[in-house]
Amino acid sequence: MGGCRLPIPIGVVSSGASESRASVILYDGMEKLVKNESLVVIRNKNGGDVLAICRGGRGVNDNVRTASFTPGIAYAKTGRTPSSVKEFYIFNLEIIGMMGENGLEQNKLIIAPTSLVEMYIGEDDPMRYLCNSDLTIGHYWAEPRWRVPVLKQYINYHIGIFGVTGSGKSYLARYEVIPFLRKAGYSVIIMDWKGSDYAPYFESSIPLDRVKIDDPTVLRYFNQLTKNFGYLEREENPVSTAVEQALRRVEWRGRPPEEARSLIYQHAKLILEQNAKKIKAETGQLWLDRLDSSFELITEEEVERFLGTIEPWQILTMAKEKGIVVIDMSKGEKEQKLAAFYSIARYLKRLMENKQRLDVALVIDEGPQYAPWQPRGLERDTTDIIIDLCALGRSYGLSIVILSQGMAGEIGLNAAVRRNLNTQFIGRIHPLDFEEAQKLAASYYISPEILLTLPEGHFYFLGRMNPSPTPLLISFQIKEGS
Ligand SMILES: Nc1ncnc2c1ncn2[C@@H]1O[C@H](COP(=O)(O)OP(=O)(O)OP(=O)(O)O)[C@@H](O)[C@H]1O
Ligand SMILES: [Mg+2]
Repeated sequence: MGGCRLPIPIGVVSSGASESRASVILYDGMEKLVKNESLVVIRNKNGGDVLAICRGGRGVNDNVRTASFTPGIAYAKTGRTPSSVKEFYIFNLEIIGMMGENGLEQNKLIIAPTSLVEMYIGEDDPMRYLCNSDLTIGHYWAEPRWRVPVLKQYINYHIGIFGVTGSGKSYLARYEVIPFLRKAGYSVIIMDWKGSDYAPYFESSIPLDRVKIDDPTVLRYFNQLTKNFGYLEREENPVSTAVEQALRRVEWRGRPPEEARSLIYQHAKLILEQNAKKIKAETGQLWLDRLDSSFELITEEEVERFLGTIEPWQILTMAKEKGIVVIDMSKGEKEQKLAAFYSIARYLKRLMENKQRLDVALVIDEGPQYAPWQPRGLERDTTDIIIDLCALGRSYGLSIVILSQGMAGEIGLNAAVRRNLNTQFIGRIHPLDFEEAQKLAASYYISPEILLTLPEGHFYFLGRMNPSPTPLLISFQIKEGS
């Protein structure tokens, strides 16, 4: 586009504009160029240049209005083209802000009707008006050269990535969000639920069964497996206590599974037998019976899940040294995955409670597995600890990044967790999330239909890290071989 004046004039502001809302009537032919989510500048005749987004357009031709009869309709009925003299195109303009000397400011002047509207194209990068951050995520959908700047100071306010399966969430995380976090100085720990989205692409990955699960978490798992060793949840539980002591006192990790299992069992039995001397014989026998029937469920296979020896502190050290560590969770039962996560999360929480600054990002793909709408069993622990990590993370430099197919309701992320994700990337959504989409639509004039049909790799970027008060539609390029 060498030599031509940029940005290019596309139309004028129509009557009825305010300081926060306006629409543009397009010059003849511009309807073929200006698209939904095109970026424009309004040269406000009342003063200032205002950056805005075209959002929601329509074509108007009163000749073919269907509410009443016009000569145009008569033409149309006979198969001839009615006059297009009275035809025009309008786009709503969603105001981003006034371009001031020190970046964007809230626009306070009424936008004058007939003010000129110009559209950005090509080299002329409007993103530089948003903020002068050299940290970016993806590019504005219209132009790969327009990298979208983000506000780094809100990384600790946590990030949510939403979209149906195949919308490109894991790709966005891998190609854009994680490299961005690295540039911002964060070490990254990735929980790769499927083991196929990250583990093959990063240098350091740790298989799930090599992670050391701390004793309380192992006990929690056994409790769940055996229905509290046959006791009610709130009841005093001598069997569980004995197993807990056995887990703590015996060196069972790093051994063959049958040996480890037998060590735990024998030691717990010994403890129960000793304790039984002080009480009624029947009660003592009941304890031992419950221990035996519980260990029918705590099989070698179950014990094998917890024989890993890499401790959470080693994972953190590795993340600090290598920059990125992936926990490859491809092999393992759901409960085991949650247990491993819980163990790592507990460690991070403890560090922050001791006022240690982390500068770590924890990326959780398949978020609802850890924090579903209505958590049950171990999910309750993982949901609670994610909420705790979010709260502490704001002060101690831990950023939580959660990916989820659904936003709200049954398919969605736990509401209390979601409230903590102050920056969001929303890709194509599931029809079950239509209601959520309507709320967005009401706030930002993004039509729910558009959210239902976004192409893969396209996300609306909104929230604290977005320098623009209105969501920006972003995309990103996938580079072969990275
Ligand atoms: N920016 C992009 N450009 C082109 N294609 C893309 C882009 N992002 C993603 N894709 C395509 O979309 C596919 C699905 O992406 P991805 O695996 O990230 O989806 P997802 O949202 O994580 O799905 P799931 O919820 O099932 O994990 C990719 O295999 C890739 O082919
Ligand atoms: Mg994915």
